[in-house]
Parts: sequence; C-alpha cells; structure tokens
Amino acid sequence: MIKAGIVGGTGYTGVELLRLLSRHPQVNITAVTSRAEAGRRVDELYPNLRGHIDHCFTAPDIETLAACDIVFFATPNGVAMKQVPELMARGVRVVDLAADFRIKDVGVWSQWYGMDHACPDWVAEAVYGLPEFNREAIARARLIANPGCYPTAVQLGYKPLLDAGLIHPESLVADCKSGVSGAGRGASVGTLLCEAGDSFHAYGVAGHRHKPEIEQGLASMSSGAVKQFTFVPHLLPMIRGIHATLYARLDMSQPDLSQEYLQSLYEKAYENEPFVDVMPLGSLPETRSVRGSNQCRIAIYRPGDGDTVVVLSVIDNLVKGASGQAVQNMNVMFGLPEEEGLDIVGLLP
Ligand SMILES: NC(=O)c1ccc[n+]([C@@H]2O[C@H](COP(=O)([O-])OP(=O)(O)OC[C@H]3O[C@@H](n4cnc5c(N)ncnc54)[C@H](OP(=O)(O)O)[C@@H]3O)[C@@H](O)[C@H]2O)c1
Repeated sequence: MIKAGIVGGTGYTGVELLRLLSRHPQVNITAVTSRAEAGRRVDELYPNLRGHIDHCFTAPDIETLAACDIVFFATPNGVAMKQVPELMARGVRVVDLAADFRIKDVGVWSQWYGMDHACPDWVAEAVYGLPEFNREAIARARLIANPGCYPTAVQLGYKPLLDAGLIHPESLVADCKSGVSGAGRGASVGTLLCEAGDSFHAYGVAGHRHKPEIEQGLASMSSGAVKQFTFVPHLLPMIRGIHATLYARLDMSQPDLSQEYLQSLYEKAYENEPFVDVMPLGSLPETRSVRGSNQCRIAIYRPGDGDTVVVLSVIDNLVKGASGQAVQNMNVMFGLPEEEGLDIVGLLP
C-alpha cells in the first residue's frame, strides 16, 4: 500500500484528495495536516468523511511527511518549495497542487507569484502533470507540478488542433468561467454569497497567473511560441466547475477542415484517454455533467463553416482541475492503472 500524506487537508482541494484517496484501493492515508485545526478530527470538520477517515489533523511536520511514500501539497503558492528539497533527499515523491514548479522560467514565475523561488534546481527537475500530454515523463518523475484548473481545461481543449497544425498559434482566445471554490476555502469578501451569488463578472483581464502557464504548455504542443494569447477568466455563481470557450483561426490552406473531420480528429486524439470525453457532434458540454468526476468533456464546432473554430471544454476545477488529476498522476508514477480510485460518475442533477 502507498503511504500518502496531505499537506493542507482543510482546504477544498485537500478535502477532495481525502474523498478520493480514502476510497483508493492502493492507498493508506498516513498524515493529514492543518496548522489551524491540528488535533481536531477530520470528520468533525468534514462529516462527509465519517466512516472513511479516522484521522486527526496534525501540524505539517517534516518527520511525519518524510515517512510517507508520496506527499500532496494542497497549499497556497510558495509552501511546497520550502519542503521539497528535504523530502526529495529522503526519497519521498511529491505532487504539488500549487504553482511552485509549473513554470520553467523561474524569473517569469517570480514576476507572477511575487516571491523568489526557494529551490530553482527542482523546478528544472519537476514534471508538468498533464497525463494526456506528458504520461511517460510522469511515470519516471519524483516531483509533479500539478496543472492549474484553467490550464487543464484550456490545454486539453486546444491540444488536438495544435498537434495537427490546423490553427494559427497567434490567434488563440480562451474565454473561461469558474465556480467560486476555485478561490479556495479562505474567507474573502469577493467569495461571500451576497457578493458572488446572482451575478457574473470577469477578473484578471489585464493579466492572470495562469496565462504564462497556459502559454508554456501550448507552446510545447505547437512547436513554437504562442503569441498574443488572450485569456479572460470569469467568476460564476456556482460552487464547482470550469467552462472554457476556446477560439482559434483555422489555417485555411489545410486540405480538410470540415466539421466532420475536426470531430474525427478530436475523437481519434482522445480515443484512449479515460478522462477526456469527446462529445457527439452538436453537443453542449455542461459543467454539472462532470461535477465530482475526473472527466474533461469537450465539443468542437466550426460555426458557419467560417475560419474560426470553437472548442467547448468543461471540468470540475477540484477534480480534473486539481485533486483528481493529482491522483491520476500518482497512479501513473506508481505504475497503477490510471483509473484506480477515479472511476466516479458525475453528480447530476
Ligand atoms: N480550488 C481550486 O479549484 C484549485 C484548483 C487547482 C489548483 N488549486 C491550487 O491548490 C492549492 C490549494 O488550493 P485550495 O483551494 O484547496 O486552498 P485552500 O482552500 O485555501 O486551503 C489551503 C490549505 O493549505 C493549508 N496551509 C496554508 N498555508 C500553509 C502553510 N504555510 N503550510 C502548510 N499548510 C498551509 C491550510 O491549512 P492551515 O492554514 O490550517 O495549515 C489549508 O488546509 C492552491 O495553491 C491553489 O492555487 C486550487
């Protein structure tokens, strides 16, 4: 059995890891940390876990974490990087759900995250944990940079078009919407019911931290820079879910750009992927169809046979956008079937 520790067990991605790992047949949860709730029973804070988790929260102490086979950091940016060198030295594998190891250019990372990096050498070593793109490297990795939620929905949506060279990489526009749990459990005025409910607005239009991460990923798919990429996130008055509407200009010199061809391109690209579902032609994927599940559901359109292609991509930000993907990465790292512990049907209605 794999001994797993979770740092940040009181947060939304932390409790989602607990929900998934408590049912995983190959995992023993051995440590669940919280500084604020140390000593309190996990199921007292999260009664959905009663009967599944018999732990109390503990302080994030290095000796306890070093006794694990794998540690998940479900913590704010800048926390994992302080403990990773020691955990690596002691042979522990790490999945960081924050952004500490996602961006290879440490200068760019510091600019966006407003701090110096504590272990830049480990940034080079870390593997970006998008299994549909990077599976072989993940299998050999000791340190995984789990992708952000928007970057997951956007990269999976664009990947087949970029791989096939059918779109102009300087024409990409990602119009994305997220539920409020994307902001985490910490109290803030913007996420109060009376502020976020019954309303809808954009944020981070001038610049968002996920933009350089998405650009880095898309550039590696398109064998060139993704210039002038436009990314506009919005806050939706719902708890879970991301809906990404992705636009790109087609390269009209390509021999076949019919809607049927584009559909077959996506179906083929993802035919062996257990967690990417290409919907039938004409479908409109809904966030609620993936709620609680590790699925990404995608539909592709070429409206009016014009030169713009539109891709719709939905995920649950806490599952495929965070904790489910982290468990998927763990499965790949430990040579387990990728779907182990993740065979969950979305909750509907
Ligand atoms: N929410 C999402 O949809 C989503 C999706 C993808 C990625 N992410 C990323 O995943 C990470 C966790 O997100 P979240 O939404 O779960 O956050 P959250 O709800 O705010 O929870 C943060 C957790 O980290 C712990 N923590 C805070 N500072 C710490 C420190 N210095 N040392 C150890 N533990 C610390 C907190 O507990 P104590 O303070 O009690 O220790 C808490 O359990 C973030 O980096 C976020 O950007 C989130």
